[in-house]
Amino acid sequence: MFEPKGDFSENWHRQQNESVERYVDDDYEADGTLGELFGGFIATSLDREGLVLDIGCGLHPVLPHYVKHLNLKQFLGIEPLPVLVERDFACLTGVAAEKIPLRSGCANAAIFSTSLDHIENAAQAISEVVRVLKPGFPLYFWLGIHDPHILAESKTFAVVHTHSRGLKKLARIVFAPLEHAFLAWQMYKRHRDLKNGIPLDDAHVRYHTLATIDSEMSGYGLRIVRKISVPGSASAFIEAVTL
Ligand SMILES: C[S@@+](CC[C@H](N)C(=O)[O-])C[C@H]1O[C@@H](n2cnc3c(N)ncnc32)[C@H](O)[C@@H]1O
Repeated sequence: MFEPKGDFSENWHRQQNESVERYVDDDYEADGTLGELFGGFIATSLDREGLVLDIGCGLHPVLPHYVKHLNLKQFLGIEPLPVLVERDFACLTGVAAEKIPLRSGCANAAIFSTSLDHIENAAQAISEVVRVLKPGFPLYFWLGIHDPHILAESKTFAVVHTHSRGLKKLARIVFAPLEHAFLAWQMYKRHRDLKNGIPLDDAHVRYHTLATIDSEMSGYGLRIVRKISVPGSASAFIEAVTL
């Protein structure tokens, strides 16, 4: 199997190796609701005739939820993890976005589905993807969002009343002040850590927030064409083109 070419830190290799077990678990992305929503977002503007690249396509053996209804003529995954997977679609395995072995201007779109926050050299990766795209063609991002208030929104009354049942629901109502105090502490800590650049977990190399997406994209030389924050989730969908 091929190891990706390029300069990668020990931390990136460790995070990549530790994530394999999670990605091959049957429960990983078993619920395709958000993935299919992302597919719907992509579908409204995608040119389906040409080559579509999935940057960091993961270890799915079948087409990921976000492309399975798009009837793409040419779909190609790019995946640095050198793990043998019997896929029912084409994939360049052992290849990182920072160096893509494709000729310039051959692709009609690039998808980053929850992969940008795992890519170590994001600016280099985006400029390489832009090289491989036909000029002016789009990049689609599904980003996990880490703002403290998004965490709070995902934990409030709707979750307790709609998604909890029985004793668990009763306990959450009775102990609500304690739960809210804990949430306030988590929000404070997240705000402080984001501000000081302290990792929030062991799985990502960067953390997107609604507050920083615009400047992050323009820092990569991209202009946002469409952006939605998905209600009830910590996800944002973005379509961008070069500035
Ligand atoms: C959370 S998984 C997402 C997998 C898939 N796109 C999905 O939505 O289910 C993140 C993926 O990004 C990949 N990745 C990490 N570094 C990368 C890089 N430098 N270039 C391309 N992909 C990378 C990981 O190997 C992993 O497959």
